[in-house]
Amino acid sequence: MKVICTEKSQILATSLARVLKTNVVEVRYSRFPDGELYLAASELDDETVIVGSIVDNDALVQLLLLIDACDNSTNRLVIPYMGYARQDKRFKPGEPISARAVARVFSTGVSEIITINIHEKEVLKYFPIKVQDISLAKDIGAYIKSLNLCDPLILSPDEGALSFAEEVASAGGWDCDHLEKTRLSGTEVRMAPRKLCAASRSVFIVDDIISTGGTIATAAGMLYQQGAQDVYAACVHGVFTSGAYIHLTGAGVKEVICSDTIERGCSRISAANRIAAALRKC
Ligand code: R5P
Repeated sequence: MKVICTEKSQILATSLARVLKTNVVEVRYSRFPDGELYLAASELDDETVIVGSIVDNDALVQLLLLIDACDNSTNRLVIPYMGYARQDKRFKPGEPISARAVARVFSTGVSEIITINIHEKEVLKYFPIKVQDISLAKDIGAYIKSLNLCDPLILSPDEGALSFAEEVASAGGWDCDHLEKTRLSGTEVRMAPRKLCAASRSVFIVDDIISTGGTIATAAGMLYQQGAQDVYAACVHGVFTSGAYIHLTGAGVKEVICSDTIERGCSRISAANRIAAALRKC
């Protein structure tokens, strides 16, 4: 068995290959003069784990090309970050269900798929083949443990992400709550933990995705006003669009961390062990 990956998932693929005690196939990635993508894989195997996060449109096309390049192999596909998953419904007439479109396209040429903390579990039903979604919540919990903070409070930005936050908090038996938004006036909102008090505590806001960072930056400012000692932010998928990382640190967030489903300078957690365990179960 060998691992093969798209250009933007090289680090995770290498970590995964180490755990699986195998090699990553070398791939030459380039572009035709008209902008179309090209790739050529070196020595392929008859069993392949293909790894590629859909972080942008080029990554999506590269992943399609890789699967086709591996057409003489038995393939399992790992999509660590599935872009387009947030358009999981037709919100307005005429829109595509983008998550379904992506799920259908990537279900050809592979026997099964692994995703990580997919935005909505409902998206899994769009894959016409076997799919497993794995969670890095416990790994975020283990990272928080390594910081040796005194009795941290784990918060989700909203009620929808509370079960994820609870899984993180279970790693240390810490308090957990979700932030609640109260509209004070036409222009003012207040965000505070629903039941607990953040005063004098180290607070970790955890979510599946940090995109613009807007929600967490606003929450951090308010938590400091409520007396929080330090505010940290952790997510699985560090999308960090529109200068999100700077926005968060500017809002006083002491440390922003993510996993390597999207490879970033602040990727402190690797998904490699969890993916390897899921592959062994397949
Ligand atoms: C939304 O449902 C997701 O779980 C995240 O909360 C959202 O993507 C974060 O967005 P932003 O970082 O732009 O506030």
